[in-house]
Amino acid sequence: MNVEELEKRLAQLADTAVAELGETTEREEAIQVKNRYLGRTGSVQQLMPVMREISNEEKPRAGRAINQRKNQIEEAFEDKLDELAQLELKRRMREESVDITLPGRRPDVGLGHPLRQVERELISIFDELGFEVAEGPEIETDYYNFEALNFPPDHPARDMQDTFVLTDDRLLRTHTSPVQVRTMKAYDLPIRIISPGRVYRCDSDLTHSPVFHQVEGLLVDVGVSMADLKGILTAFAQRCFGEGTQIRFRPSFFPFTEPSAEVDVECIFCDGEGCRVCSDTGWLEVLGAGMVDPNVFKACGIDADTYTGFAFGLGVERIAMLKQGISDIRRFFENDQRFLEQF
Ligand code: DAH
Repeated sequence: MNVEELEKRLAQLADTAVAELGETTEREEAIQVKNRYLGRTGSVQQLMPVMREISNEEKPRAGRAINQRKNQIEEAFEDKLDELAQLELKRRMREESVDITLPGRRPDVGLGHPLRQVERELISIFDELGFEVAEGPEIETDYYNFEALNFPPDHPARDMQDTFVLTDDRLLRTHTSPVQVRTMKAYDLPIRIISPGRVYRCDSDLTHSPVFHQVEGLLVDVGVSMADLKGILTAFAQRCFGEGTQIRFRPSFFPFTEPSAEVDVECIFCDGEGCRVCSDTGWLEVLGAGMVDPNVFKACGIDADTYTGFAFGLGVERIAMLKQGISDIRRFFENDQRFLEQF
């Protein structure tokens, strides 16, 4: 083979190599093509023995031709790799791109439970009216829950409340009234407290839950009268249900108060006109109240000839349901976020 023939062969090889590289669509494939031409056993290398047939004068020209064609293939290979890298980058930009115009996802923000919100509101209203918070245990003794509150043993009044009994002498408190007794026994007079907390009764329907919340109130001092009770409860009702809200007392019975009253507020849905919620009476029953029974004072070691006091008790769920327009008490305890988020 002479140098012209060699140049021709090399040109053909380089052309096919460049064309084959041009066809490739993957890096590995391009490497294979390159190796087939430029590798240790590749097509270009296989031409080397031909050098022996070429005259010494022509050898430099043959060497230049070989280098030029090798470079040509090498360059085509590098260009291909660049092209494939660009394509890969574009593909990833397309697939992994983030649409920064989409609205962000807001993290869920915790809120107070609707019952807790109402309880806090009640505490703050009574705080304004001068009442401090006192608390007591949810597991009570028969003595604090009933006996000291003037429920004699086997008295039918105990049937007013369906008690969860734990042992002979331990029960889940059925109301927050035992805190009255604990407070009167432990603190000096005068006393002006409210006691918010959980209470338990074996009862469950649309308006009753086996666990619910009450706020108890107690004021004991010299010269406290039923008029003071009515004044405090009127102030409370107007802060809780709106200015000008009227209240009324209806005679009732509780073992621990004498006299006792059920306290109604003017219906907040119809302003006293009469509607479905108030069964056309214009009034909603929201509290029990009365003057502390002398027998309760006696159990607590307080002189009933010197001191008088009033007490009241209200259900937090009842108030929350009225204020928030909720008709099923169980909603409070299901912890369905869609419900809770509304408050
Ligand atoms: N303890 C009563 C109940 O749970 C509510 C109550 C009524 C509390 C009258 C009082 C009161 O302090 O004076 O049904």
